[in-house]
Amino acid sequence: MRTLIAALKTHNNAYYVLDNPMIEDSEYDQLRLSLIELEEEYPDLVQPDSPINQVGDVPLSAFTQVTHDLPMLSLGNVFDYDDLSDFMRRVNDRLSVAQQNPEYEMEMKLDGLAVSLKYEYGQYVQAVTRGDGQTGEDITQNVKTIRNLPLWLADAKDIELLEVRGEVLMPKAGFERLNRLAEENGEKTFANPRNAAAGSLRQLDPAVAASRPLAFYGYSVNQGLPERIDTQSGALAWLGDIGFTVSAVRVVANPREAQAYYESVIEKREKLPFEIDGTVIKVNSLALQQQLGFLSREPRWATAYKFPAETVMTRLHTIEWQVGRTGQITPVGKLEPVKVGGVTVSNVTLHNFGEIQRLDVRAGDMVSVHRAGDVIPKVTRVWEE
Ligand code: IVH
Repeated sequence: MRTLIAALKTHNNAYYVLDNPMIEDSEYDQLRLSLIELEEEYPDLVQPDSPINQVGDVPLSAFTQVTHDLPMLSLGNVFDYDDLSDFMRRVNDRLSVAQQNPEYEMEMKLDGLAVSLKYEYGQYVQAVTRGDGQTGEDITQNVKTIRNLPLWLADAKDIELLEVRGEVLMPKAGFERLNRLAEENGEKTFANPRNAAAGSLRQLDPAVAASRPLAFYGYSVNQGLPERIDTQSGALAWLGDIGFTVSAVRVVANPREAQAYYESVIEKREKLPFEIDGTVIKVNSLALQQQLGFLSREPRWATAYKFPAETVMTRLHTIEWQVGRTGQITPVGKLEPVKVGGVTVSNVTLHNFGEIQRLDVRAGDMVSVHRAGDVIPKVTRVWEE
């Protein structure tokens, strides 16, 4: 049973997190079936972290409200190098001479939903949404179905209460699969992976949530962290060691190094299996975080260094017909110039008349323009006639 559990975990991770399956679905189903049969034959030996049990049992009639032990904060934003340097300067202003220029830790800003998880003596007991930061919804049963979520933490079996916070997200490939399926069945599709993840967590039937390809990435330990660990980077390494999926981190010493990390993440962005909307920079020392505290709803020790938006709205003024070298006629939308993906766009190809009909786009409409990486910009949605 332990061998099967280990294999299923590996394949769940490859499929749901890395989007890179290592075996055919039919083979995966076989492994799963073998474990189910063993569990039926030897019910006393069912392992607490069996992935079979990750499908919730009872449909939830409604979600109960739960008050967070510690408020769930949000983050301020910076958008360029100057803002980033200002943020680091403001941190310095609040530190003593001996504490100047602290180390920072950087992570990707995952585009999903913040969730707080609780484990008692290593056993998963609760998941709550951020809600208004003070009170959230109890989504324990739905989160329990997330394939890469550890339900039993052997290494935390002596910790009375462990609170881990992180992001629930839907990887890009799973999102596209889900939407393709919805389209085939004539059901409503989701606008983006974040919406799909949110919709999945709000499902009243955990079996439906279980069928959705969600993943959990831990980004902080808010209660129960072993005392020997005194940095954010150490906390994430520990989370990784005890069984959580965490995204890669980088420790930086100054704004230049932070900028280099930010730019390296932009480079990787398209190729990542999930969507991100920036990076997060955090003072690495947990003691300094404590000392800096927070102002209204935002920590003074962290901020989001956001990417330029990839989808923006603007006015489509006219549609012109461009005659190419070969005589081919292409409709080109003339836009109110707008910055998208860091570049100003004033023309957008509408490809052909079929595309115009599909979008039902007309001169004067408000439209969404999307530009990602080096891909040529396109109109993805019409808002108003
Ligand atoms: S730290 C006080 N780290 O961003 C610390 N948040 O705008 C706040 N988020 O509610 C959380 N990736 O949902 C942190 N690596 C990351 C994150 C992250 C995404 C989200 C999180 C939070 C929101 C704040």
